[in-house]
Parts: sequence; C-alpha cells; structure tokens
Amino acid sequence: MSKHILITGGAGFIGSHVVRLFVNKYPDYKIVNLDALTYAGNLENLKDIEHAPNYIFEHANILEPDVLQEIFEQHDITDVIHLAAESHVDRSILSPMDFIYTNIVGTVNLLTAAKNYWKDELSKHRFHHVSTDEVYGTLGDTGFFTEETAYSPNSPYSASKASSDHFVRAYGETFHISFVVTNCSNNYGPNHFPEKLIPLFINNIINKKPLPVYGKGENTRDWLYVIDHARAIDLVFHEGRNGEHYNVGGFNEWKNIDLVKLLCKLMDEKLGREAGESEQLITYVKDRPGHDLRYAIDATKINKELGWKPSVTFEEGLSKTIDWYLQNEEWLKHVTSGEYQNYYTEQYSNR
Ligand code: NAD
Ligand code: TYD
Repeated sequence: MSKHILITGGAGFIGSHVVRLFVNKYPDYKIVNLDALTYAGNLENLKDIEHAPNYIFEHANILEPDVLQEIFEQHDITDVIHLAAESHVDRSILSPMDFIYTNIVGTVNLLTAAKNYWKDELSKHRFHHVSTDEVYGTLGDTGFFTEETAYSPNSPYSASKASSDHFVRAYGETFHISFVVTNCSNNYGPNHFPEKLIPLFINNIINKKPLPVYGKGENTRDWLYVIDHARAIDLVFHEGRNGEHYNVGGFNEWKNIDLVKLLCKLMDEKLGREAGESEQLITYVKDRPGHDLRYAIDATKINKELGWKPSVTFEEGLSKTIDWYLQNEEWLKHVTSGEYQNYYTEQYSNR
C-alpha cells in the first residue's frame, strides 16, 4: 500500500526540507503538509514543489482536534511525521503558554487523532516525533548526550518538547501506537528564520547591524546541516526500531563566539569587505536566562544501526548557507518585512 504521510510544520525551516525530500524521493507517496502558518511558517520555502502531483497543503492548526480528525479521514493518513512546534527558546521565555499549547496540547491532539483513525491497526502505522537534544538539559565541559541520558529540560521550550516526548511514549505504552523519536542538535541551512543565531547574524552582517552575542559567547552548540537532519528523519522513519529514540548530531561543537568570528570572516570574503570589518559588529549583550552551557550529541546509535552520518562538513555547509542567503535576498526581504505572510493568500486564494 502506498503511504499517505501527514507532515506537520512543513512550511517551517526543517519541515520544508523534509517535505521536499519526501515529495521528490517518493513519487508514489502522498505527502500532506499540515501547517498553521504562524510567523515561522512560510510557503515560499516550498515554491519549487508546490505543484507536484503527490503534494497537498492543508492550512490547519494542531490545536483543532476536529479538523485533525477530518484531515486523517479525507486523506486516509497512514503515517505521521510531526515537526509543528513553537521552536525559539527566547520566545518561550517571553510567552511560555504558546509553547505549552502547541508543543504539548497540539502533540496530544495529533496522537489522539492518529489513535482514533488507525484504531485496531495501530501497529501498521508509524508516528515519527521530531524532537530536540535540548530535552537533555545542559552538559559541562565534557561528555555527550546519549539516548540513555535523563531528561532535564531548562527552558520553557525544552520543557514543552520533553513533555511532548513523554506523551508520545505514553501513547505507545498505553494505546500501542507505533512510534519513533529523533532528538536532534542545532540545525542550520537555507530557509532558517532570521531569529535564530546563524540566519540572524548573516542578515545583520549583510546590513552592517550589531551582532548581539549573549553573555561571553562561551556557550557551545553542536551544529548540523538541515539536509542531513532531513536524511536522518527519512532513515529513522523507514528503518528505525519501534519505540526507540535516535539522537542526531554532527559531532561538530562550536563555542558561539568562535562560530560568529568564522561567520564574519567568511562573509567579509564573500562580500569583498576588508578582513576584520564584520567582527567589529560583535556586541556582547545580557545573557539569556537559564542559558544552557553546552549541547553535544553522541550519534553512535543512528550511525551503527542505520548507517547515517552527516554528508556535509561544517565549513562546506556554512559556506553554502551564506551563499543561499546572499542569492535569496528576496526571500530574506519578504521575511524581514513580513511580506511572506501574504504569499498564502496570493498563491492559494483561487484554489
Ligand atoms: P520552525 O519554527 O521553523 O517551524 C515550525 C513550523 O510549525 C512553522 O511552519 C509553523 O507555522 C508551524 N506551526 C507552529 N504552530 C503550529 C500549530 N499550532 N499548528 C500547525 N502548525 C504550527 O521550526 P523548525 O526549526 O523547523 O523545527 C521543526 C521541529 O524540529 C520542531 O519540532 C523543533 O522542536 C524540532 N527541532 C528543531 C531544531 C532546530 O535547530 N531548529 C533542532 C532539533 C529539533
Ligand atoms: P539559537 O539559534 O536561538 O538556538 P538554541 O537556543 O536553540 O541553541 O541560539 C544558539 C546559541 O546562540 C545559543 O547559545 C544562544 C546564542 N544566541 C546569541 O548569542 N545571540 C542571539 O541573538 C541569538 C538568537 C542566540
């Protein structure tokens, strides 16, 4: 039987890369992209595949259980890959309730819709929950997060994702939903909304605006090119063992300040600016409350079991990312001006 996969959050950063990969790689699957188009959802990310015969967009919110039920029925959904979420830590500090609703309540709504629709055939279907390494909390100077590391979330964002992970497990244990969870490190790449470190700083360097480094810039993140995350999701969705978590990461740790200096250097070269010019934009600002010191993923399990490893080095990935932003000024302008939010009305009003 051909799969009818509901991908939630497919208009967002990672979701759009997952949708594109599945639409192009599996022409016999039906891919239903469900997205509420919050500020982070941008259908311009999917312009190249929006007319593909195996692709459908559903403008819907995971906070509406009745609508979810209808979508499962209408498209005879066989599997779910769930990415829809509020995803920015700084926003979670300002408005924790948005994260509780979408990330926890929304996930439970989706699990319930899947359970109701798949009824007695639950083991034939798969619910793939896309989560983060931030659920594990923070590391000191050494060590890695493994799949056995205890959850210890420190921000409202990571607490809401940890809670959603627990609900996925609970629906597996209690109702026998077949599930897999991927816990991935920080992603970067094309189509990243310029509120997160790398795209924000690329945009600010282009516009010669200050680069606000939190605290002393000593916090460390493990960066992975977004397409390698999409490849990992594809593998785990198809071949991961039921009920298992798979950590996904690049073995690629960078202190924020070192990363920002590398970014400045590469951008000076690409923009033909004098060496050292963009570094002068670095401005140290007040630290983020509860700022996790270090994330680092041990991705041995997914490598040993499924043969996954990153395909792109950080230097290549960062260079490609900068090139993408320089070549897609229009996308960046639409996003920073808010104009991208008109795209849905213009593109879909006559459909
Ligand atoms: P994003 O913020 O770019 O996109 C989120 C998408 O979800 C948007 O298209 C938005 O419109 C949609 N959405 C939000 N609320 C919704 C709702 N109530 N109903 C339906 N759609 C809704 O996020 P991202 O960075 O692409 O992250 C995607 C997933 O991957 C998230 O679950 C996140 O926790 C996880 N993740 C992200 C990273 C990262 O570095 N960005 C790393 C690991 C895991
Ligand atoms: P971010 O991209 O928000 O991802 P996360 O908080 O999920 O890791 O931030 C990456 C790192 O960069 C994190 O340590 C916070 C820091 N940061 C800054 O120093 N300045 C900024 O303006 C932003 C957005 C992040």
